[in-house]
Amino acid sequence: MRIDPETVERIKQTAAVADVIGDYVTVKKKGANYWACCPFHGEKTPSFSISPSKGIYKCFGCGKAGDSVRFIMDIEGLGYGEALRHLAKKYGIDIQEEEMTDDQLLRQNERESLLIILEYAKEFFKKQLTDSDEGKSIALPYFKERGFSDATIQAFDLGYSPEGWDVFLKTALKHGFSQDIIEKAGLVTNKNDEGKVYDRFRNRVIFPIHSVAGKVIAFGARILKSDAKNQAKYLNSPETVVYHKSATLYGIAQAKNEIRQKDVCYLVEGYTDVISLHQAGIKNVVASSGTSLTIEQIKLIGRFTNHVTVLYDGDSAGIKAALRGMDLILEEGLQVNLVVFPEGQDPDSFVRSIGSEAFIEYIQKEARDVISFQANLFMKEAGDDPFKKSELIKEMVQSISKIPDAIQRSLFIQKTSQLMRLEEDVLLAEMNKLHLKKVQQKSMPTLSPQNEAELQALFEPGPEVDAPVEVQNLAYYQELECMRLLVNYGHLEISPEKAPGVSLLQYLIHELEEVHFQTPLFKGIMDTCRSEFARGVIPEPSFYLHHPEEEVQRFAIDASSDKHVLSTVWRDRHEIKVKKDEELLEDFAYKNILRLRKVYNDQHIKDVMERMDQYVGDPNEMNDLLLEFIHLKEIQKNISQELGTVIEK
Ligand code: CTP
Ligand code: MN
Repeated sequence: MRIDPETVERIKQTAAVADVIGDYVTVKKKGANYWACCPFHGEKTPSFSISPSKGIYKCFGCGKAGDSVRFIMDIEGLGYGEALRHLAKKYGIDIQEEEMTDDQLLRQNERESLLIILEYAKEFFKKQLTDSDEGKSIALPYFKERGFSDATIQAFDLGYSPEGWDVFLKTALKHGFSQDIIEKAGLVTNKNDEGKVYDRFRNRVIFPIHSVAGKVIAFGARILKSDAKNQAKYLNSPETVVYHKSATLYGIAQAKNEIRQKDVCYLVEGYTDVISLHQAGIKNVVASSGTSLTIEQIKLIGRFTNHVTVLYDGDSAGIKAALRGMDLILEEGLQVNLVVFPEGQDPDSFVRSIGSEAFIEYIQKEARDVISFQANLFMKEAGDDPFKKSELIKEMVQSISKIPDAIQRSLFIQKTSQLMRLEEDVLLAEMNKLHLKKVQQKSMPTLSPQNEAELQALFEPGPEVDAPVEVQNLAYYQELECMRLLVNYGHLEISPEKAPGVSLLQYLIHELEEVHFQTPLFKGIMDTCRSEFARGVIPEPSFYLHHPEEEVQRFAIDASSDKHVLSTVWRDRHEIKVKKDEELLEDFAYKNILRLRKVYNDQHIKDVMERMDQYVGDPNEMNDLLLEFIHLKEIQKNISQELGTVIEK
């Protein structure tokens, strides 16, 4: 499935960033750069800048940054490969797929064959709906009765699968599709005892299910009569190579742009809720299709917005089911509101009975943040039972503790304490217990409390709770400095006179041979560089600026816009007259390595001191610790001296 690197390069070269972005927003040229109103967050004055020479964009409002591929990934909600294919199609570039193993080839072919037959089936069902006698006499009237317009039927590719046992199967076979593929696409039933198969969706109206990119990947099919007793109301495609129910949201292809624009996603239960709301002009809506939400579905929504409003029926089973998914949503950092409809109404029936304006008004009036909602529900449920009540409080605090944002978390604690008429301290104490557990469970490599105060802060409530995780300690800063050098200058000769042909990258690899960066992102970049170097490649800045991993790319963009600042600071501080950063490279790099060494060495010293402090037992081991300590102190002295001479020079 990999696209070969040359083609990737061609796509990136051809897809000029301003041109690609120009398809979505109006871009204006100002000097060497372009400016636009950021398509990712609402704004009236442009803070979204595009640099055609670097091939990148950056929004100074919301911080989104990337190249043309990243832009397509974010705006269309596609994966990296999908975005490349999308651009290749736009610019008419043939994709040369890299040699695949037989197994990969088979899977790839199967995927493609499935998408083709599913597309064919969709067209077949649509034709049946509008052109066949059966469709015209029973299916179309059914949709009309439900109030669906022609435009709506078209927008959702609605169709009809006829009553005969194998109308679709026969037609598809005649058209040249193999029975194997038809079966694998889930379009027919499993084989019965005689080895025969039939159309899976016979005599039902069809709701195609689209991927986020708009490809048909499955079908939902509803029985026409609502009173048919011993038949399921809906039949759905089984899991296939292209359909993973748990990662799919019904309506996402039709809704994604509107979700981004409105910066909120309405989440409903059913196909018809999505369709009716869409027709009423409320298009930022998707359905989980009758199951409780999964983490993949939440992440899918998170590509387009941080706000979710859950619209559920009035019956309490639905609400309970909804609340079960909430912790997951909160954990992803999404902000959730909940709206409950009057008894017996679902969004579909409700919007048809009161119209879209009143519907929106209702949502705005009735929306409750999920924590308050839960608190109210629990209060009712617990009544005066103190045991029940403490149980429920624990559950509430559990939910709140899932919210990644510390400020939001403390606001919710406040609110909950008011709602449940409880001292805030009680809730905070409960939450700290949870945090303590979490910290103990997780081994966090970047989290090494430096002192009492930090350790204390770790378990402190409120906004400080997260502080140590974000503590950008000395090691982080030195590693960051080193990475800035690497990203901007790794490909340059470190000292053209003294060591011609030796790149900064090579120097760093050599110097850092036994060192592992403590910041995971930097460690990752360094590891990549090592393996690139091992195969004879010295990455240039564009390697990082166009890196497929978002974190790497964003870091590179920030690092490259900082580089001039760096040299100014250096100049001011040391009053050295220099022409270019490049000329300082050797000094920069040497000093940086020394500082890194010093930081790591200091950490080591601290560690040994602590061990000595807490030491009980064999005096010989104490002696070893002492020797180690002296050795480390020696190193510390040497480095400091060396740093002193470097700085003074
Ligand atoms: N569902 C399903 N199988 C069923 C019942 C429901 O897959 N037997 C899924 C469907 O995705 C459906 C959703 O659960 O859209 C919600 O179910 P329900 O509220 O019963 O359906 P509605 O969308 O309201 O359908 P209708 O209005 O046509 O009755
Ligand atoms: Mn309904």
